[in-house]
Amino acid sequence: MTGDPARLKRQAAEFAVQFIRPGMIVGLGTGSTSAHAVRRIAGLCAKGALRDLVVFATSNEVRRDAADLGLALLADDMPSEIDITIDGADEVDPELNLIKGGGGALLREKIAAQASRREIIIVDETKLSPRLGTIRPLPVEVLPCGWRSQARYLASLGGRPVLRTASEGVEFRTDQGNFILDCRFGPIAKPEELARKLDSRAGIIEHGLFLNLAHDVIVATRKEIRHLRPPQG
Ligand code: A5P
Repeated sequence: MTGDPARLKRQAAEFAVQFIRPGMIVGLGTGSTSAHAVRRIAGLCAKGALRDLVVFATSNEVRRDAADLGLALLADDMPSEIDITIDGADEVDPELNLIKGGGGALLREKIAAQASRREIIIVDETKLSPRLGTIRPLPVEVLPCGWRSQARYLASLGGRPVLRTASEGVEFRTDQGNFILDCRFGPIAKPEELARKLDSRAGIIEHGLFLNLAHDVIVATRKEIRHLRPPQG
């Protein structure tokens, strides 16, 4: 196997797509790794190998791509259960907890993950981490109204928040019109405790800690594809 990052992402994506069956409701993640899965799924649908598939897109961008590729899209009032969601991640710890939101789609990605019978995460080996926060800052989606107060709150929890920008002087906006504060915490000793503090704060819409949500993590390495499951699973 070659170590070309794009190839590793594609290999992880194609491995995950083999779990999809005709007639399923499938959640489509956002990001460069998930994009390989979207293309693969669309290719199989076009060949008739995955009949009657319906997809839920986790961002406006993926919704557009999926529509362009001819996939049948669910409306936003999606049913309560998605059969399988395939999504990427920014960081994966040994318990298969995740940091997500590098692409800004964390809110809809978490809605899809919580509604999914099976959440399959696809990554290349660079995303594996001994402890969340070691590699990447934690994205936190906040309401623009009062965002500086959220930045102070995040700093009080030990983070170093930086307002994400789309271009110089222009704030990045999520699909919901909110801001993202990318918070460098360093290795996070107690992710559950941090998640609780973020969940309980008005003005914080969502955060990129995805704890106990992944059922499978597919890791493409230079040598092999590894299929990981949570320790308790
Ligand atoms: C999107 O908001 C993110 O959660 C992505 O899933 C994550 O950033 C991984 O993206 P890549 O596959 O592009 O690395």
